[in-house]
Amino acid sequence: MTVTIGVVGSINLDLVASGAPLPRAGETVTGARFAQHPGGKGANQALAARRLGAEVKMVGCVGDDALAETALALLRQDGVDVGAVMSEIGTPTGVALIAVSPEGENQITVASGANANVSPSDVAGLPNCDVILCQLEVPVHAIEAAADRATATGALLAINLAPAMEVPSTLLDRADLLIVNEIEAAFYGEALHHDGGLVALTLGGEGAVLFKQGREIARSKAYPVNVVDTTGAGDTFCGALACALAEGQEPQAALNFASAAGALAVTKPGAQPSLPWRAQVDQLLSESPS
Ligand code: RIB
Repeated sequence: MTVTIGVVGSINLDLVASGAPLPRAGETVTGARFAQHPGGKGANQALAARRLGAEVKMVGCVGDDALAETALALLRQDGVDVGAVMSEIGTPTGVALIAVSPEGENQITVASGANANVSPSDVAGLPNCDVILCQLEVPVHAIEAAADRATATGALLAINLAPAMEVPSTLLDRADLLIVNEIEAAFYGEALHHDGGLVALTLGGEGAVLFKQGREIARSKAYPVNVVDTTGAGDTFCGALACALAEGQEPQAALNFASAAGALAVTKPGAQPSLPWRAQVDQLLSESPS
């Protein structure tokens, strides 16, 4: 069954320094290796859903600079529809400066660039979808337009509240699915849990939990993998959970699917290069039944 997912979100080029300890404020560390990869939470989630079998349409903005094509390269290569991605004249493509420690943990600073120009009118380019999936690296009024579009077309509205920031409570209330990590869950608190909505909480090495109206309805373990780089694991979880729920998978199966996909994403360096394909997720699930 092929589902359709519209993603309204960020598109970045990730500049990654890996293998040195994470610096403290005011500290310089040396000895890191450099790499650059396509990234951005929106683009990562779009590509994750695509590699897991969904038809995906991306709404976002890049600049009119040399970074834009690199940032879009894997989306294009793997068949994400980027026809609604705008190119902003005189604006830089979003860039993320990422440090990855020898243990695979990361620190990320984003220079939003063209992502700050995603507008409600851009969202009009979304076709009818099973799920509209958003994050918080583009302006809130664009996400509100995505919520309007989801309401108008009957799509499920999923919002990954990353990075955590103040948003209108009405936006939280409109989401059918909110996805948070522990830091984001602490930031939003009880505002996450409203009538009818699902909340997925990722717990890193402890797995993930799914709540409905504040009550736990599913829990998945962490799948045993070798941790190389955690960048993009949360995005993979989001894309996979959106895909699985759109396919009509039961909550426990959907959560296991998303957790297994997220686990595979930590086994390779980089965000988009590490996103798993459907067959890899199915294999991990069959090797490590819950
Ligand atoms: O979630 C990881 C992503 O956050 C990176 O790819 C980076 O671009 C930032 O948006």
